[in-house]
Formats: sequence, structure tokens, C-alpha cells
Amino acid sequence: MERRVVSRKPILLSIAPVLLVLAVFSSSLSEAADSKASFEDNFDVTCPVDHFTTSEDRQIWYLSLDQKGGCGFKTKQSYRFGWFSMKLKLVGGDSAGVVTAYYMCSENGAGPERDEVDFEFLGNRTGEPYLIQTNIYKNGTGGREMRHVLWFDPTEDYHSYSVLWNNWQILFVVDGVPMRVYKNNGKENNFFPNQKPMYLFSSIWNADDWATRGGLEKTDWKKAPFVSSYKDFDVDACQWEDPYPACVSTTTDHWWDQYDAWHLSDAQKLDYAWVQRNLVIYDYCSDTERYPTLPEECSLSPWD
Ligand SMILES: *[C@@H]1O[C@H](CO)[C@@H](O)[C@H](O)[C@H]1NC(C)=O
Ligand SMILES: *[C@@H]1O[C@H](CO)[C@@H](O)[C@H](O)[C@H]1NC(C)=O
Repeated sequence: MERRVVSRKPILLSIAPVLLVLAVFSSSLSEAADSKASFEDNFDVTCPVDHFTTSEDRQIWYLSLDQKGGCGFKTKQSYRFGWFSMKLKLVGGDSAGVVTAYYMCSENGAGPERDEVDFEFLGNRTGEPYLIQTNIYKNGTGGREMRHVLWFDPTEDYHSYSVLWNNWQILFVVDGVPMRVYKNNGKENNFFPNQKPMYLFSSIWNADDWATRGGLEKTDWKKAPFVSSYKDFDVDACQWEDPYPACVSTTTDHWWDQYDAWHLSDAQKLDYAWVQRNLVIYDYCSDTERYPTLPEECSLSPWD
């Protein structure tokens, strides 16, 4: 795998086939469209009122960060397996040190037994590229980071960021393109979160101790407030109900947990290969300095 940031131009040139297969992929997802629902029905906001605003029609939500603190929201419901999607527009301009997180987690806080599926958007100095960091936690342990650059400026417009989660794979999807494939080896002590229902969260916070160039670039508070925007929440999933919802035993009745969603399609494989060639800048599965013995899931093929 190439571990470098390619210039914008070759990416743009090679995007045509991606857009083509993208159209095919998104049409196969149209079954999920009927589940669009409003933010207010689905989320609780977890920050002071002055850090949270909406558009007049309340369809767009804005989370802001300043020196007093950040902001976040969380789904009222938790889910086990499904399709989770939202459109985000990230903090523009000088956003070094600022992290917007969009993630699923089985708990409210950073508990020692939590499962987590993370998208984190690491801000940067004006004109320097945002990075997407993705990660998986199982029972409180993480360390499964990958980092990607994007083929567009995520601060200029809304783009969709989605997670497909079933018992075979977790896909991290950006505008319909599978950026990362995380597989389940099916063994008893696997590192695949598949037991605990998870909530969907988003938050914006200051992480200038590590985020941008490893913490070298500090947040410039003169540029505050930093604002990220959200719209078009879309969930098609098995909603959890204690003690055990019926849909847990029938998840295979749903498109997101059927054969086609257990593996990449041929079209998705093309996109995924393109991402691997052009956008990956860090993969823990290639970091033998950090993991002299690579975690077991690193040997699983995303192509199966
Ligand atoms: C999960 O983590 C907790 C706390 O670290 C530990 O006590 C427990 O045995 C773990 N459970 C499993 C199934 O590994
Ligand atoms: C920020 O920009 C620098 C310079 O282009 C780049 O090396 C770095 O990977 C970018 N992102 C982060 C999160 O540091």
C-alpha cells in the first residue's frame, strides 16, 4: 500500500469511475430513504445552549467550540447493526487543533468496557488538508486507527459520512465510497464490536495536544467560535429495546444485513482499491513498529 498524500490533480482525474460506481451504490441504498427523520425526534443535545444553534427551519444543526468548551449531540435510541448516515460540513479556515467527531459508542462516556466506531475529522491550518481518522474500540480497547485524506475540501460543502454495521463487516463510507473495511473473523475473542448496542454521537472539541501534526499546531482561539454543521440524518437499523429487541434475531431480514451487505460489491471494490492507492496515509495494520505482532484482524482480507 502506498503511504503518501497524492496531489489533488491525479485524484480528480481518477474520480470519474468512482462517480459512476457511486451512482450504482447509492441506488442500491434507496430502500433506506424512507427512514429520514428530523434531528429533534432523534437526538439530544449535550452542551450549553449558546454552543448550539439551528437554521431557521431547524433542518441544519450547528455545533460550536470556543475557549469555554465544545458541544455534542447523541441519538435518543441505541442500535445494533444497520446503516447510519449524516451530512457534515466541517469548520473552515484555520481549524488546526479542532476535532469534529462523528461516532457510535455503546456508552455515554469513555467507559472501560465501551465499544466504539469512530470517524474523527482533524482540522488544519488554512489551506492544509483535513485528515479523517477512523478507529474501532472493543470493550474499552482501541488502537485500530487509520488516517485518510479526502478528494474534496470537507469545509466547502456538505458530504455524507456513513457507517454500515453488520456481523460481517463495518464499512466507513464517504459520499458512497467505502473508505475502510473492517472485517469480523468470527472467532470467539474477536476484535469486532457486535454485542453491545451503540448510540450515534457527534461532538466538536479542542484536541490541540495531539490532533494536528501530532500536537505541534495549536488552536488559534482568536478564530473562535469554530462551527461544524449537520443535516440529513438517515438511519436504517435495528433499534435497541431492553432487554432484547425482536430485530436482533431477524437482522438478516434487512438489506443492511444481507449477503450483499456482508461483502464489498464489485463496484465498491473498484472504489475501495482507488482509496487504498490514493488516500491512505496511515494504517495501524502496516505499523510494525507499533505492533511487532500485528493484531489478528489485520490478516483478514477486505476483498472476501
Ligand atoms: C471487558 O473489559 C472489562 C474491564 O476491562 C473486563 O473486566 C472484562 O473481562 C472484559 N470482557 C470481555 C468479554 O473481554
Ligand atoms: C495538516 O497539514 C500538514 C501540512 O500539509 C500535514 O502534514 C498534516 O498531515 C495535516 N493534518 C494533520 C491532522 O496534521
